[in-house]
Amino acid sequence: MEYTIRRPDDFHVHLRQDALLGPVVRETARSFGRVLVMPNTVPPITTAAQLCDYRRAILAELGAPGRAVSATGSFEPLMTFKVVQDIDPRSVPDLAAAGAVGGKLYPHGVTTNSSDGARTIDPLLPVIEAMEAADLVLEIHAESPDAFCLDREASYLPVIESLVFRYPRLRVVIEHVSSAETVAFLSDMPARVGATVTVHHLLLTLDDVIGGELRPHHFCKPIAKRPEDRDALIDRVLAGDPRYFFGSDSAPHLRGDKESDCGCAGIYTAPVAIPLLVDLFERHGVPIRESDAGTGDGPSMERFVSRLGAEFYRLAPSTGSLTVERVAWTVPSVCEGVVPFHAGHDLAWAVRDPI
Ligand code: NCD
Ligand code: ZN
Repeated sequence: MEYTIRRPDDFHVHLRQDALLGPVVRETARSFGRVLVMPNTVPPITTAAQLCDYRRAILAELGAPGRAVSATGSFEPLMTFKVVQDIDPRSVPDLAAAGAVGGKLYPHGVTTNSSDGARTIDPLLPVIEAMEAADLVLEIHAESPDAFCLDREASYLPVIESLVFRYPRLRVVIEHVSSAETVAFLSDMPARVGATVTVHHLLLTLDDVIGGELRPHHFCKPIAKRPEDRDALIDRVLAGDPRYFFGSDSAPHLRGDKESDCGCAGIYTAPVAIPLLVDLFERHGVPIRESDAGTGDGPSMERFVSRLGAEFYRLAPSTGSLTVERVAWTVPSVCEGVVPFHAGHDLAWAVRDPI
């Protein structure tokens, strides 16, 4: 049994730097043809020159300049910059010309490498206005740093609402949506407001993080919440709601940095994301391939991972394909020093590498 689908895109990945960059890029490129690269590197990506250097470093890991064609097919990093206070709004057109498709807003201290984030939105408004003018997407880590952890996402929604109405052409993505409140909020928003959904927020609740033993490899921001929250996400994704598209938030940290007194947030899902999504859609009886979804815009996994994000970002459909086959395999306990999601577990579906 196997399915061949249009090559998936991943609209939220952390590819990291230095020694982790190569293994993470190569693993990510096994499943995904285009990935939206997060800018929370050290130092962050805030200039056109840094953006070009980072893209070059990513592609160099696949051994090809420009638009890399690796053993796994074509791979295109879609670049972003960090929306921070000291960006000169006049540099936004340069960032767009260098290939940025969006800018990522991190509130102060909400996640990995965000101590440079904004404490209030006001100082960022000139940059956001310039992004609207340049038709760049504003990606938002939607959490209020000072709210109780389970309420952080919901408590950030008024900030998003104010931006959406202040900038009537701005496209906004609420990244790694994690709560039923945000799902309700999105249903009242114009279509230019979308959301990425991770595989781990479709599978985990807070019980899988702290309900029994402490599971540091299930710890991420925003934290997995109640069953009702997870079910609200599953409902929208399986219904094929076009504003919800795939962004894995695959976020590797070395094992010692997670299994620690002060563990880092982030789950490394790149090796398992597609097999787990196939399993989820199958279990709920939703087709994997668009061609099995009937005429029109019926829900399918292929539409979720290979079409809706590209449409939101106004990109051509991805080229190439990916085959997943029903082959049992055991997820390695460690990949290059990082414990992947579902480490040591048996999965029913595997991504087939091209011969
Ligand atoms: C991400 C990381 O490690 O860079 N961590 C996470 O828990 N998701 C940052 C982020 O997207 O919040
Ligand atoms: Zn992220």
